[in-house]
Amino acid sequence: MIHTAEIAPEIYRISIFVPEINLEFSHFLVRDEEPLLFHAGLRGMFPMLRQEISRMIDPSKLRHIGFSHFESDECGGLNEWLQIAPAAEPVCGLVGAMVSVNDFAIRPARALTRDDVLSTGRYRFRFIPTPHVPHGWDAGVLFEESDKTLFCSDLFHQWGQHDPITSSSIIERCKDALVQAEAGPFANYVPYTHHTGIVLHDLADLAPKTLAAMHGSSYSGDGGQALRDLAVVMGDVLGPKAEQGTTELGTAGGA
Ligand SMILES: [Fe+2]
Ligand SMILES: [Fe+2]
Repeated sequence: MIHTAEIAPEIYRISIFVPEINLEFSHFLVRDEEPLLFHAGLRGMFPMLRQEISRMIDPSKLRHIGFSHFESDECGGLNEWLQIAPAAEPVCGLVGAMVSVNDFAIRPARALTRDDVLSTGRYRFRFIPTPHVPHGWDAGVLFEESDKTLFCSDLFHQWGQHDPITSSSIIERCKDALVQAEAGPFANYVPYTHHTGIVLHDLADLAPKTLAAMHGSSYSGDGGQALRDLAVVMGDVLGPKAEQGTTELGTAGGA
């Protein structure tokens, strides 16, 4: 049920599969001088995650707890980590810190703008704000500049249980996941706005070598091309509906 794999040097994907919803939740531990965890995880998963992380580092030595946006699978367990790691800080964007995290968390966040660099030792991180991509005003992604790993949260969402990392294209699985989500109670999981494509192309220009996805396999390869492909898929699956103004409540303009 819990599985750990190294997806890049000293970057570990700790994944928990929940069969009831056919979904993996992946958390990424960066084992560096100042250990960083990306995705605090659901509060209910904390005991299992803590035990697993204890096999790799002393969890009380964690220094940075990062996540994309304020949602339980991203940061539900944040305070549990802050309690056991006295030197740890939440790491998020400025909007996330000011709107939610500084109220919710037992210690204030280290709020990063695009110009800030967070060094953990050998690794250098930037938080790139990506409002409403995948969702949430506060959303962003974390990019590690030395090895070019992009921690991309819900982007590249895939249902099911998969290899920890693959060099085969994941884009068809991502397309299927979006189509499937739109057909059920998770419709509108990802909004499609006038700047969705711009955000994805901006991330593609970072030329990531590894895409660390929260749900599904991580990807090793031409991450820039994968992001450009995702922009096409999201436009195809989500865009036309938005352009026609169709919502689950009906069609704008009364057509
Ligand atoms: Fe999310
Ligand atoms: Fe998620």
